[in-house]
Amino acid sequence: MKNKVDFAFILHPLQLEDIFRKFKFMRRWPKFMVNAIMRGIPPFINSKITGIASSHGTIEGCFVGLPLTSEQMLKLPPEVVTKKIIAAGKKATSAGAKIVGLGAMTAVVGDAGVTVARNLNIAVTTGNSYTVATALEGTQKAVSLMGMDLERVEVVILGATGSIGSACARILARKVNHLTLIARDTSRLEKLAEKILKDTGLVVKTTSNINEALPSADVVISVSSAAEALIEPDSLKSGAVVCDVARPRDVSVKVAERRDDVLIIEGGVIEVPGDVNFNFNFGFPPQTAYACMAETMILALENRNENYSLGRNITVEQIDEISRLAAKHGFKLAGFRSFEKALRPEDIKSIKEKAAVKRNELRLSMV
Ligand SMILES: NC(=O)c1ccc[n+]([C@@H]2O[C@H](COP(=O)([O-])OP(=O)(O)OC[C@H]3O[C@@H](n4cnc5c(N)ncnc54)[C@H](OP(=O)(O)O)[C@@H]3O)[C@@H](O)[C@H]2O)c1
Repeated sequence: MKNKVDFAFILHPLQLEDIFRKFKFMRRWPKFMVNAIMRGIPPFINSKITGIASSHGTIEGCFVGLPLTSEQMLKLPPEVVTKKIIAAGKKATSAGAKIVGLGAMTAVVGDAGVTVARNLNIAVTTGNSYTVATALEGTQKAVSLMGMDLERVEVVILGATGSIGSACARILARKVNHLTLIARDTSRLEKLAEKILKDTGLVVKTTSNINEALPSADVVISVSSAAEALIEPDSLKSGAVVCDVARPRDVSVKVAERRDDVLIIEGGVIEVPGDVNFNFNFGFPPQTAYACMAETMILALENRNENYSLGRNITVEQIDEISRLAAKHGFKLAGFRSFEKALRPEDIKSIKEKAAVKRNELRLSMV
């Protein structure tokens, strides 16, 4: 094992529940007290990552823990949070990392990594280019398995003006015929729609009302930065495919409990080459990682110690390049997962059958 790591990745608890799982006694404390304690804890090296090996080289890394929840990251003043992310980046630097990846909300706060990169002496990436590539690949596969043709169906992007969402929208607009974009800020939505019209000729619909667009969507790519779930069981059409890239999730856990006729897949679950040991359980099966983690590893394997996916205008060239490098080093999309469980072919078959029954019932009720 090396003394110095090649890369680091910054993680944080998505919700208080993640803290309570580890420190059970804190569950009895008032929420404000837990939040205040977390604010006072500096970033720390969480665990070493060993065993990543492609046919072109081997690397080691570490996770840096940043003890703030998603809600805290969105509610605290951005400069306070950015300062803490920079401190986490410095921790990565002192561990020897030459590149650091920003996980979950650390990539969302403020200007999506630009200020953080300016204040560090090592390279920074949000990992969003590979996240876009694999979200689109996974969605396309799931849509085909459900017997749909992406070109013909209603596609919706929730969180469409963000770093990941806008790249998905710009790429999908070249392939699909019916696209609706959702976010809260309507002027940013309009600007994106105009750009898409100019670049691709496609007229896209825009709305800030989730319930206006979701019930008619066949395919949803969900990439909002909301701290709470936005997609409830009653929002979805029977037979819909939802690729939930957001962390914390956009799809409520109630959907898994109450809808057996929709296919919800997690975006960006990636198989890592070699015999990787994260020495930390972030809820994925062995040998797999989030796409944003994988992007950091790929750049480290390439010795590309330069800033990569930063800001909110990821380019198609960046996405194509990271996809090519991923294939070169043996990273690939893992099997589908839904709410922390693997999805088997028979699960997808059952969803398809139940959706067909529901559609039939609906048709009969309208006769
Ligand atoms: N699975 C993975 O491997 C992976 C990798 C990277 C990132 N992520 C996750 O992906 C998500 C998006 O990241 P990003 O970097 O693209 O974020 P971002 O650039 O901040 O974009 C967030 C988007 O969500 C919209 N939004 C926020 N709150 C909303 C709400 N309540 N209702 C509707 N729209 C809302 C924002 O627009 P408005 O503010 O105008 O509403 C914006 O369009 C985050 O949850 C992040 O943790 C996952």
